[in-house]
Amino acid sequence: MDNFTVLQNIIQNRRSVKPALLNGQKIADEQIRSLLELANWAPTHGRTEPWRFVVFSGETIAKFSADHAALYKNNTPEDKYTEAKYEGLLHTADNASHVIAVYMKRLPEAKIPVVEDIAATAAAVQNILLGAEALGIAVLWSTGGMVHNPAMKTYFGLDQEDVMMGLLYMGHTNEPAVEGKRRSSGEEKSTWK
Ligand SMILES: Cc1cc2nc3c(=O)[nH]c(=O)nc-3n(C[C@H](O)[C@H](O)[C@H](O)COP(=O)(O)O)c2cc1C
Repeated sequence: MDNFTVLQNIIQNRRSVKPALLNGQKIADEQIRSLLELANWAPTHGRTEPWRFVVFSGETIAKFSADHAALYKNNTPEDKYTEAKYEGLLHTADNASHVIAVYMKRLPEAKIPVVEDIAATAAAVQNILLGAEALGIAVLWSTGGMVHNPAMKTYFGLDQEDVMMGLLYMGHTNEPAVEGKRRSSGEEKSTWK
């Protein structure tokens, strides 16, 4: 198979897998390290390399989940708070092997627009997702829970300009891959002049 076809298969077969579908099987830390190195090869304007990762595995996953649920409890107005969501956050990662929190770190000296550092960090995440697909690892890139709440920025010690990009729930699944869906083709979203 030529390189393009290999890459095309990886890109098109990659699917988001909900953490509820993970089976508890562990991923070797070495594989996670390899994926983080792939992330580091994302394009980066001004060489700011703004992607940052906090990796949870083993017992630290339960600790993070408890902290995430507590952030929800302590930062949600009473009329919006539900016990179901609290329990959901507590248990979302029960069968995950690793959870990676991703954020964009803005360098004080960065001159490029913020959106470009966010774009570079998103590209780094995509490198992880594609590498994971190639390794048969299931992932969900999630921005649920408290990801976009300022309390989570504080929890991870982010500065004002930094941006939480999401949580990657990673593991293995026994579920068959679902068929990918897109609203329209790339051609339909493109204009040639
Ligand atoms: C920035 C971002 C945040 C996302 N957050 C969530 C999320 O919180 N929950 C979820 O179920 N999926 C989330 N997704 C995954 C999308 O639902 C998924 O990519 C989409 O349904 C297309 O499916 P596919 O990734 O299998 O092609 C997110 C995707 C992106 C790019």
